[in-house]
Amino acid sequence: MIQKYVYGNPFPTEAVITEVPAEEGSPVYGSITEKDGFCFTYIMDEQDIVYGLGESNRGLNKRGYRYISNCTDEPHHTEEKLSLYGAHNLIVIAGEKNFGLFFDYPSTISFDIGYTKADTLTVSCKEADLNLFVIDGDSPYDIVKQFRRIIGRSYIPPKFAFGFGQSRWGYRTKEDFREVVTEHRKNNIPLDMVYMDIDYMQDFKDFTWNEETFPDFPEFVQEMKAQNIRLIPIIDAGVKVEKGYDIYDEGVKNRYFCQREDGSDYVAAVWPGDTHFPDVLNKDARTWFGDKYRILTEQGIEGFWNDMNEPAIFYSKDGVEEIKEQMKEFLAQSDNAEANSSHSDMSILALTEKMNKLSGNEKDYQRFYHMVGGKRIRHDKVHNLFGYHMTRAAGEAFERIDPGKRFLMFSRSSYIGMHRYGGIWTGDNMSWWSHILLNLKMLPSLNMCGFLYTGADIGGFASDATRELVLRWLALGVFTPLMRNHSADGTRRQEFYQFEDTEDFRHIIGVRYRLLPYLYSEYMKAALQDDMYFKPLAFDYPKDPMALQVEDQILLGNEIMIAPVCTQNAKGRYVYLPEEMKFIKFLPDGTVSEETLKKGHHYVEIALNEVPLFIRSGKCIPLAGTAEYVDAIDSGHMTLIGYKGAEYALYEDDGISKKYAPLEQCRVLAIS
Ligand code: GLC
Repeated sequence: MIQKYVYGNPFPTEAVITEVPAEEGSPVYGSITEKDGFCFTYIMDEQDIVYGLGESNRGLNKRGYRYISNCTDEPHHTEEKLSLYGAHNLIVIAGEKNFGLFFDYPSTISFDIGYTKADTLTVSCKEADLNLFVIDGDSPYDIVKQFRRIIGRSYIPPKFAFGFGQSRWGYRTKEDFREVVTEHRKNNIPLDMVYMDIDYMQDFKDFTWNEETFPDFPEFVQEMKAQNIRLIPIIDAGVKVEKGYDIYDEGVKNRYFCQREDGSDYVAAVWPGDTHFPDVLNKDARTWFGDKYRILTEQGIEGFWNDMNEPAIFYSKDGVEEIKEQMKEFLAQSDNAEANSSHSDMSILALTEKMNKLSGNEKDYQRFYHMVGGKRIRHDKVHNLFGYHMTRAAGEAFERIDPGKRFLMFSRSSYIGMHRYGGIWTGDNMSWWSHILLNLKMLPSLNMCGFLYTGADIGGFASDATRELVLRWLALGVFTPLMRNHSADGTRRQEFYQFEDTEDFRHIIGVRYRLLPYLYSEYMKAALQDDMYFKPLAFDYPKDPMALQVEDQILLGNEIMIAPVCTQNAKGRYVYLPEEMKFIKFLPDGTVSEETLKKGHHYVEIALNEVPLFIRSGKCIPLAGTAEYVDAIDSGHMTLIGYKGAEYALYEDDGISKKYAPLEQCRVLAIS
C-alpha cells in the first residue's frame, strides 16, 4: 500500500508517474514538523536496517551515518563525503515494521540515519514543499517492488551495451581509436564499444567533432561498425560560449539557456571555458537540446554518455571576483608592516579555502534560473533535477529520432525518474581496493531506486591502477550491466593489453560473454517486471540473521550470488552461504570447476585469473561459448551448469527494437 502526503507546494519532479491520491492527516510512522523547513523524525528499533539512497557512500545498510542528496561533481569518494552525483531519496526501514519512504524533493535534503543519535532517523530539508510517499509492505523487497511500480519501467539499453566497452580520457585521434580496437582484436579480447571522451569534440563544443583529427567522421563510424565496434561519444552539460557556434547562437536567440536574475544568460566555466547551461527543465529548451543528439545519430552513432550534468561548475565570474577582492585585502595586509605574521597566515588559509570552494560553490547555484511553465524558478530549488532532465532531453529525442529503436544512454548525475531514460555510471572513482567494495554495495541500492543499467569505471578512474586490482575489479565488472574500463588522462594506462599476461584479461572478459545470455535475460526480466537485478542477500533470505548482515556478497537475478575478492594479495576470501550452493569457478583453461558447499561460512580460494560465482540450490544457468562481440554469441549452442533437474527460462529478443518478448515465451532450458 502506498500513501502520498503533500506538504506545501511541491515542484512536479515527475519521478512518480502513477497517480497516487493525496492523503489527509499524517503518516503513521514518525513525526513531522514544518516549522523551519521540513523535518521527519522516526525512532528506530535497535534491530532496524535502513536500505536505499541509491548512489551514496558507505554500506548497504545505511544506518550509522548521514547522507545529503545534493548532486555534486565529487571526484574524491572518500568515506566522509556526504554527497555524490545522484539524488535518490528512497529509504526502506526493515525490521519488526517494514516501510519505505520516498521524499520527492528536488533540492538539498539530509538523511541522518542514527548519526546524531543512534536510534533516531531524521530527514530534513529547508523548505516544506514536497511529496512524501509512504510504502507499507511485508518485507523490504516487497516495498521496493511497489515503489518501482509507481516510478515506471527502468531504461532498457540495446543488447550490444551488455558487451565490454573500453574508454579513456585522452584518446584524441582516429589512430588512437584504431589502436584500441586493433589491440583488442589482436589479443582476442572481446570488445563492443569504444567511448569517446571530450577530446573528439572541436574545442569541447557539444555535438561537434574535430575535423582535423576526425575527418570523414561518418566513414570512421562505419569503419568501426564494420569491426562490430560502436563509438559512444560523451555529451557535456555546458554549451560553449562562442559566437558563430550554431548551438550557442540558437540557444541565445531563443532564450533556451538558464538566465541570471537580470535576464542575461548565465555563464559558468567548465571544460570549454565559459559555457551556458541549456534550460532542460523548460520543455521547449529540452526539445531543442534533445534534437541536437540527431547531429550525431545521423553520423551512425547509437549511444551516448551525458556528463558534468550536476551541473558541474569549475568557477564563475562572481566566484573569481570574490577571490580577487579577498586577494586585494590580503595583499594590503601583507604590505602593512604592522600586520603580524600569524595574522597573514590566517589570511592565506582563508584564501586557500576560498579557492578550494570555487568549484561547485553553492552560491553559484543560486545565481541562475529556469523557466518552467512560464514561471521562473531559482536553480538551487530544483538543483537535483538537472542531470535527470538533460538525460530526459536525450531520451525524448530518441523517441522522435527512431521510436522503435533502443539507444545506449547513461548519465553521471541523476534523480529518481531519470531511470526511465538512461542508466548511470558512478563517476570518478579511484584505483583503490575500497572502491571495488563501494561499487558492489551501491549496486543493489541503485536497483532499489530504478537504476538497473549501471556500473563503475572498472580499474578506477583516477590514480594509477595495478594489474592485480584491475583483474579483481574486472571479476566484479563481469556481472554489472554496464561494463566499462575508464581512466583519467595522465594516469597509468589500464587497457588490458597494457599489462603482462594479457590472456588472464582475455579469459575474464570471455566469461562475461559466456554469461551474457543469462545476464541479459535476468536484466530483461528485472526491467519488464519492475524487479531488481542485484539484491542484498537479506531480500531473499529475510529470516536468516546472518544474511541480514552480509555487505560484500550480493544476489544477481534469481539464480546466482556473487562474492568478488576486494583485497590486495588475497588468495581467496570468506563467504557466507544462506543455503547450500554450488561454488563455480571459471578457470583460465576454459573449464568450469564445481563444488557443492553447505549452508554456512566457508573460505574459498580464488586465483587472480578465475571468476567465481555461486549457483543457488535447485537452480541452473546457461553458458554460451565465448565471442569477440555480442552479436557473435551463439545462443543456439549453450550448456547448463548448476543443479541436476533444474530448469532455466531464458529471455531472448532482437536486442535492438522495443518489441520486447512476452515473458511467457521464454525458452525453457533444462539440465539433463
Ligand atoms: C569527468 C567525467 C570523466 C571524464 C572527464 C573528462 O571527470 O566524470 O568520466 O573522463 O570528465 O571528460
